[in-house]
Amino acid sequence: MSNWIEQLEGAKRAAAVVAPVLRSLFPAADGQRLIIYSETESSADLEFDGAACESADELYTKLAQASTESELPESILVKGLGRFVFKAAGTKSANPRLRGKVSLVTGGAQGFGEGIARELAAAGAHVVIADLNLELAQSVVASINEQYGENAALALSVNVGDEDSVRDLMEEITLNYGGLDLLVSNAGVLKAGGLEEMTLKSFEFVTRINYTAFFLVSKYGSRPMKLQARFDKNYMGDIVQINSKSGLEGSNKNFAYAGSKFGGIGLVQSFAKELVEDKIKVNAICPGNYYEGPLWSDPEKGLFVQYLEAGKVPGAKTVEDVYEFYVSKVPMRKGCSPLDVTRAIMYCVEQQNETGQAIPVTGGQTMLK
Ligand SMILES: NC(=O)c1ccc[n+]([C@@H]2O[C@H](COP(=O)([O-])OP(=O)(O)OC[C@H]3O[C@@H](n4cnc5c(N)ncnc54)[C@H](O)[C@@H]3O)[C@@H](O)[C@H]2O)c1
Repeated sequence: MSNWIEQLEGAKRAAAVVAPVLRSLFPAADGQRLIIYSETESSADLEFDGAACESADELYTKLAQASTESELPESILVKGLGRFVFKAAGTKSANPRLRGKVSLVTGGAQGFGEGIARELAAAGAHVVIADLNLELAQSVVASINEQYGENAALALSVNVGDEDSVRDLMEEITLNYGGLDLLVSNAGVLKAGGLEEMTLKSFEFVTRINYTAFFLVSKYGSRPMKLQARFDKNYMGDIVQINSKSGLEGSNKNFAYAGSKFGGIGLVQSFAKELVEDKIKVNAICPGNYYEGPLWSDPEKGLFVQYLEAGKVPGAKTVEDVYEFYVSKVPMRKGCSPLDVTRAIMYCVEQQNETGQAIPVTGGQTMLK
């Protein structure tokens, strides 16, 4: 095994830094293609000896040279790494808006993430739904694929708070689709409580999943994006953090959550400055409450039931009273839906002159100062 492959810890890991380069170097006339990697070494349209190269950069140079000289290949063998097969990008969705884009939604098995994943698929994107709850993610993926075709969506297991798990996830995406164009960092948790109730354990749990995990997904998710940008002058990638209105204004007895979301905006602004040279925009969306989602509406452990039972809303006798209390604080008198959030994601992706912003989607409840 050559040194650079060994340094990257083997053929599969090395393949994950080659697939995005191939995706950028060998696009179809009408746009990006997808790439599927396998460890087999059977013959292909173009062949290279990866093990004979001194470094990944040496291999990239040879691939770049070939891309200017060869007919568009359907498959490429890199000896020492494996075989890369190209596939036309795009799904059965007739909507061309995100056609061919590879997107990832963390925490996409339910709630906002599920709704965002469904909207992105409807807009023509390929969607990876990555979640702790793989079984639920698989059932969402099955229903998306039934509608838009078998390579429209893919379910993968991840714990966004675990570095190895996040690294594996990003590599799996690259090896299954060839790269990544839109990363939606949505997985999040909430543990409310004032200073007297909050334990260090709960505080650190919320901080890890809402704040630290955003660092991890951005670190490993930006890697394939950087490689694509390096070899495709038209590339532009997006990282979008699903933040919260509680990232813009403090939240009474909910400081673990609000603090983690405020911190998220600091990361968004800093990553935006760093990644601008890699043509990756980084923005946050700050939704208001999604009252129809499971966090609020779950009949057993949803916040409506919890707040009713805890007497948090004075005079409330039913779940509807609690709903009225909260919705009356919103000038537009409605909660925030996954479609509302996806429209803001679309804005982030389609515009080409803004990065590092935190965009409220709150029906007027939170206004920027
Ligand atoms: N629901 C709201 O009213 C609301 C409002 C503003 C912002 N948000 C934000 O939107 C995002 C989604 O919230 P939601 O209410 O839809 O949540 P939810 O609890 O309904 O769903 C969260 C999903 O994330 C997954 N998840 C949790 N921990 C994970 C981990 N460590 N690794 C991988 N997956 C994990 C869960 O399995 C679940 O599928 C969060 O970032 C939240 O802070 C929610």
